[in-house]
Amino acid sequence: MTTPDPIFVDPRLARLYDAFDDDRRDLDLYTGLAERLGARSVLDVGCGTGVLALRLAARGLSVTGIDPAAASLEVARAKPGAQAVTWVEGGADAAAGLDLTVDLATMTGNVAQVFQDDADWGRALDAVRDALRPGGSLVFETRVPDRQAWLGWTREQRSVRRDIPGVGQVEMWNDLVEVALPLVTFQQSYRFPPGVLPDGDVVTSLSTLRFRERDEIEESLADAGFEVHEVLDAPDRPGLEWVFVARWA
Ligand SMILES: C[S@@+](CC[C@H](N)C(=O)[O-])C[C@H]1O[C@@H](n2cnc3c(N)ncnc32)[C@H](O)[C@@H]1O
Repeated sequence: MTTPDPIFVDPRLARLYDAFDDDRRDLDLYTGLAERLGARSVLDVGCGTGVLALRLAARGLSVTGIDPAAASLEVARAKPGAQAVTWVEGGADAAAGLDLTVDLATMTGNVAQVFQDDADWGRALDAVRDALRPGGSLVFETRVPDRQAWLGWTREQRSVRRDIPGVGQVEMWNDLVEVALPLVTFQQSYRFPPGVLPDGDVVTSLSTLRFRERDEIEESLADAGFEVHEVLDAPDRPGLEWVFVARWA
């Protein structure tokens, strides 16, 4: 299984995720699709801190959120309404063992890009398919490689501060480490106020993401038994991402 990055598994960083990723207009497309597809039950794969899972549960859907990062799930479980969601600690490949037959599976926040090698990605798709009912849908996004999102992952382009309750002002910045397409590696650094952490003020997290071309994704979906129903544009990030709507044929 792909191991999650420190930003998701280190409790010091997992608790910062929502503050630094605070514009969640990206999720509107997913709640809209859940409604359009008539989904009553959803598996949110790589649910992280549970923002989408909680939104869907608040609309009365039956929701399971699965993620391998215990610290992110702990953040999710502490949120209002969390008891309405079934939270499972595990990677996408564990989805098949959940004994679910959901109408819809989702992967938001570019979860699809964490699977660096094709075998891992294929296993994830197979497992998600096995958690769907026949005719059920999988919706996920992935960045368009040609748009070279990584060019913005530098300290000059991305350096942000947030006030974190109980912690103080935290600064976050990105450093691009390596572009070895289809893999891109970058580091996220978080500077805490002096004295908050016992062993230094800066905590870093290294991430490598896989940038797949559209035809590679379509092929991997077909191999897992999915039919691509639509490829949408993300309205909040026009031209930057493909949002795949695939149906288990
Ligand atoms: C950028 S976050 C997105 C979280 C959430 N979907 C959102 O939109 O806020 C990526 C998530 O993928 C999860 N992840 C990493 N490896 C995974 C795997 N093998 N299977 C499922 N999720 C994984 C991480 O733990 C993290 O929560």
